[in-house]
Amino acid sequence: MRIVVIGTGYVGLVTGACLAELGHDITCYDTDAGKIARLQRGEMPIFEPGLEELVKSEVAAGRLSFASGALPLDRRVRAVFVAVGTPPSAIDHSADLSAVHAVAEAIGRAAVRPLAVIVKSTVPVGTGEAVERILRDVRPGIAFDVVSNPEFLREGSALADFRAPDRIVVGTSAKPARRLLADIYRPLTERGAPLVFTERASAEMIKYAANAFLAAKIAFINEIADLCEAADADVEEVSLGMGLDRRIGAAFLRPGPGYGGSCFPKDTEALLAAAQGHGVQLRLVESTVAANEGRKRAMGRRVIRALGEAHGRTIAVLGVTFKAGTDDMRQAPSLPILAALRAAGARLRIFDPEGMAHARSLLPEADYTRSAYECLDGADAALLLTDWPEFAALDLARVKASMRGDVFVDLRNMLSPERLRAAGLRAFGIGRRE
Ligand code: UGA
Repeated sequence: MRIVVIGTGYVGLVTGACLAELGHDITCYDTDAGKIARLQRGEMPIFEPGLEELVKSEVAAGRLSFASGALPLDRRVRAVFVAVGTPPSAIDHSADLSAVHAVAEAIGRAAVRPLAVIVKSTVPVGTGEAVERILRDVRPGIAFDVVSNPEFLREGSALADFRAPDRIVVGTSAKPARRLLADIYRPLTERGAPLVFTERASAEMIKYAANAFLAAKIAFINEIADLCEAADADVEEVSLGMGLDRRIGAAFLRPGPGYGGSCFPKDTEALLAAAQGHGVQLRLVESTVAANEGRKRAMGRRVIRALGEAHGRTIAVLGVTFKAGTDDMRQAPSLPILAALRAAGARLRIFDPEGMAHARSLLPEADYTRSAYECLDGADAALLLTDWPEFAALDLARVKASMRGDVFVDLRNMLSPERLRAAGLRAFGIGRRE
């Protein structure tokens, strides 16, 4: 099927490349001509494992192309995916929908036949209706089916998530649009992916509710981690014991320095703003947001406590991205934690397998190294902030021998305290005895 994907950010690019892989004929469109030119040269705007290879092979196979300028909506195009950004607005953190609305207008002007307009961007309930209104106003002569089809991709495993989704949610009551979406996703549903048809507003809500629930799960285990420390329990054992209950599940029950990224912080805030607009109070979501903000600040204090004295000490920082598998530092817990350490007079030396370019621009006053070992060499303390698998494989005897100090703060509980202690390091994890 011939499909246009509007927006070549994270969601649009992954969706476009993966739809091409399913056998569709995809044009990824962006108003940013420079970005499109770079994509045409095979340069990726983001780091996502496997994406560059997939884009190149789909382009070579003739199923994927890139365009800017006029919207390429010829008679053969049957569906348009909208995957533009919905950043938080400066005023109340609600989702800024100006890009979505502008795309709706552009589609209305450029359309030459009836189209399914499929909204992938994370948008509050009611946005589909607004898009439909805009299309009707701009182009009363053409029938559009506006569908909500939220994405549930995780950075770092987006391709795998697309290829084997837990579910595909399609929000529309229009029968032809349901059939069209079923056709688009048939290769995935034939492999067992459940396709869930809902009303459009429900689909829009599912995305926010799912993200808020996952954020709450993380905030919950982080609170339990604090209590475990005070009560001499081990949160890793607690998380394991809780997660084996199938009603709870082990996923997203890993304690850490607080959730970050472009989605959970933004979507929980946007959900609260939307709820406020409807006069509904979401106490659990409010508490989740507050608990997570508090946690990021508390983690800075925690590290300083482990150091004893931060002033003049060199801290080897292992990982700064908001999680492993990405170069993304948006809302990363590392940012407030490292700001607190700087304010306390510590010297920062940073290594991250993928986040160095972003880190350099966000934290210009730190030193940067080319490997974890170089970072740790001569440091007074180590601070592990991101769960990159390579950190779990560190040779701790070598680490201890090269460090000046012996403090090892592991805010992801990646290294067992026993291993750290056996190497002669003082272990500071979270939610477990020090
Ligand atoms: C999240 C959702 O998981 C996706 O389903 C969703 O599509 C996406 O947002 C989105 O809305 O676009 P992502 O932001 O890529 O995906 O990252 P996650 O893997 O969900 O991690 C979010 C944060 O929670 C990270 O800072 C991570 O370190 C933290 N986390 C996650 C924990 O602290 N503990 C856990 O057990 C899991």
